[in-house]
Amino acid sequence: MSDPKTVKLVDESTQRSSTLPLVAGTLGPACIDIGTLYKDTGHFTYDVGYGSTASTKSAITYIDGDQGVLLYRGYPIEQLAEKSSFLEVAYLLLNGELPKPAEFAGFEHDVAHHTMMHESLKNFFQGFHHDAHPMAMLAAAVASLSAFYHDDLDVENPADRKLAAIRLIAKMPTIAAACYRYSIGWPFRYPRNNLEYVDRFLHMMFEVPSEPLQMSPVAARALDLLFILHADHEQNASTSTVRLVGSTGANPYASIAAGITALWGPAHGGANEAVLKQLKEIGTPDNVESAILRAKDKNDSFRLMGFGHRVYKNFDPRAKIIREMCHKVLAELGVSDPLLDVAMKLEEAALKDEYFVERKLYPNVDFYSGIIYKALGIPTEMFTVMFAIARTAGWIAHWIEQHETPGARIGRPRQIYTGHDVRDYMASDKR
Ligand code: SDX
Repeated sequence: MSDPKTVKLVDESTQRSSTLPLVAGTLGPACIDIGTLYKDTGHFTYDVGYGSTASTKSAITYIDGDQGVLLYRGYPIEQLAEKSSFLEVAYLLLNGELPKPAEFAGFEHDVAHHTMMHESLKNFFQGFHHDAHPMAMLAAAVASLSAFYHDDLDVENPADRKLAAIRLIAKMPTIAAACYRYSIGWPFRYPRNNLEYVDRFLHMMFEVPSEPLQMSPVAARALDLLFILHADHEQNASTSTVRLVGSTGANPYASIAAGITALWGPAHGGANEAVLKQLKEIGTPDNVESAILRAKDKNDSFRLMGFGHRVYKNFDPRAKIIREMCHKVLAELGVSDPLLDVAMKLEEAALKDEYFVERKLYPNVDFYSGIIYKALGIPTEMFTVMFAIARTAGWIAHWIEQHETPGARIGRPRQIYTGHDVRDYMASDKR
């Protein structure tokens, strides 16, 4: 870590100045600590969307957007994708180190023995129409967990925080599968503890009473890999939401439910569902050029879903891995999907187009993932639910890190007020 340095900021209109310390981390650019700026100069900072503002220190994930680098606790995503499993990555994100065999066995046992949801929780689903969006059902069901565990949960107690993490990682697939089963009118399936994490989820999703489920190792490996790639991504919108809600002392189930609702937006995790719908609308490679023209047209709200990123101004390393997976998984499953041809043509056209090149818009994690989910038989409305299952590991790791950080404060941004100056109340007959 380099020696701390400072930057000096001078308001030339008042000659008030502020000497601000530079804060450096292990990797990445140093940040200016503006804690005394208002006291020194009478000014706050303004940064719409926090594009240039660090909200916290964190040791969990590092992204280099220019180089297309993604590290979970220092391990490159490419190595974890090739050699690890989602549950091992969840342990890594939570604990900061890869588990020794006995540590992983204990973690796997704990997760397996917290997979069931309270029987009363099943009643919540009866209140939804069968065509309710599964993200709405997931957010509601996870928020309701705070009613089942609120009384005996002390967020200041490390053991309670660890148990909440285990419960959330364990129950998210069970609740997610229930959302799907409810939407198609099938009976819920209990989690089978003799199955591994992803197989257990696929069993709860697709097993029917009338015949044994033919488990597909290709499908399980593909989904496990997608879960690894989606597990964390530093201070993205949904993780920042979890941290903001967590900073008030709210319980972890309410904080994670807030993250689920933030993830749902099409600008964020909802993009994977939007990509599939967009590829279907485009229909054939012949229509790609017109889609590119629309995406460039400022008078058209149409955007190329699955393209662009706040941080990556190079290829999203996850998108590269998922694109390669697409070909492999579809071939192994014996599936051919014309939408993959559309996606490939769209990517090729965009990466040659000045508009996208100039703005450094590349495919992101959501561009190809839906094609694999579709090949696994997962319906489009469930794509963002898949994202939420995986990101639960990252969300709860950040929620725990926040509570372990001494001096953490409630999040409370400032604003630039653009409303009326002070004015007196006017009686209704004078308005
Ligand atoms: C995720 O933060 C994370 O880490 C998120 C995530 C994670 O793992 O948590 O990586 C997951 O959310 C990935 C992003 C998924 N969203 C989409 O694919 C939706 C489409 N993409 C865009 O909406 C957009 O690119 C964002 C939201 C991803 C990023 O928006 P920014 O950083 O605010 O960028 P911007 O809107 O300021 O765009 C800069 C320029 C603009 O043009 P100009 O004003 O300069 O002329 O690029 C244009 C935008 O109009 N642009 C696009 C575009 N994305 C940006 N134009 C067409 N199609 C697009 N997809």
